Order: sequence, then C-alpha cells, then structure tokens
Amino acid sequence: MRAIASIKKTPRWPQVVLIGFMGAGKSTLGALLAQQLDATFLDSDVLMEETTGQRIATLFTTLGEPQFRELEHRVVATVAARECSVLALGGGAILHQATQELLKSTYVVYLKISPTTAKQRIEGGADRPLARSGHLEALLESRISTYQSMASLTLEEHDDETPAHTLARLVALLPEPYRHHLDSIKSPT
Ligand code: S3P
Repeated sequence: MRAIASIKKTPRWPQVVLIGFMGAGKSTLGALLAQQLDATFLDSDVLMEETTGQRIATLFTTLGEPQFRELEHRVVATVAARECSVLALGGGAILHQATQELLKSTYVVYLKISPTTAKQRIEGGADRPLARSGHLEALLESRISTYQSMASLTLEEHDDETPAHTLARLVALLPEPYRHHLDSIKSPT
C-alpha cells in the first residue's frame, strides 16, 4: 500500500496576467507561457469578441471608451483569478478600478515597451482604434505608472529579441510556485 505522505501533489498557482501597452506582445508571450506551464490561455480581447460576436475595433467605436471598459471589466471578471491559467489583458483594461482590484490576487507581469517600439508595431493599424489617434506616445506615458503599480514583475523589452527568448527570460524570473510546477512537469512522478 502506498503511504499517503509519498503522494506528491502539484500546488495550484495564481493566475499569471500579462499587462502592458498595445503591441507589447502580451498575446504572443501569454500563449507561449501557457504552453510551457501546460495551462489554459485566455485573452481578454478574444473573450470580448466571442461574448459579443463583434470585433474589438467595432466595439470600441460603437460603445465609446467608458462603455468599452465596462464591458471589458465584466468579461475579465468572469475569468480573472482563475488559478493555473494565463490571461493576456487588453492594454487599457487596467484603467478600470474594479479590474485593478481583481488583479491583486493574481501574478501580474508588465511587458514594458518604449513609445518607439509601440509606434513601429501598431501605428495606423486598423484593428486598434487608439492606434490611429496620433497620440500614442502621450497615451503610453499616461499609463506607465498604473502598469508599474500593478506589476508583480516588470519585463523590459530587449532589442531584436524573439518571443522564445523573451519567454525564457520570463520563465527564469518566475517565483514559486511556478518553479515547482515547471519542475513537476519536467519530471512527473
Ligand atoms: C486597447 C488595447 C487593445 C484593445 C483596444 C483598446 C487600449 O488591446 O483592447 O483596442 O486601450 O490600450 P491590445 O493591448 O491587446 O492591443
């Protein structure tokens, strides 16, 4: 008979939430991280589109920003703090006070990019109404302190880094219980 003490249980771990400005790479990195952690990947923009049957750009334009943030909050509230998952948040979701509260029981990774990178990656894009505003730099600057105040960990961008390298950097910085979980995936008992 197997002694109870010898049965190893993988501890559950708080949701990892990726925040940062448009173009920071939250969805790309989030999907890779979820794969590595053998976890579910969630993306607030995709969830909003699935819930409403409309594209983000359409929702943003037809609802206006305050209503868009309300809807975003309601969608995020249904999945926030879901243990053992990875959630990529739309760049402005952290502006909603109640969303900020929800994130306090999660592990928040801030992907920090410069205004130059943001411009190169998103300016003029049709799927992000705010990217057409012409005030990207000011918008990013106005959000930095909120991103920083929410972050459990800040990951600065490195020039010409591939998503795989960014993932490796992030994984190396993750604290327990993520480390334990990764070890248990590598060497299951
Ligand atoms: C927004 C970011 C977008 C999307 C919407 C508004 C923002 O998400 O939610 O266009 O206010 O920063 P990504 O950060 O995934 O591009």
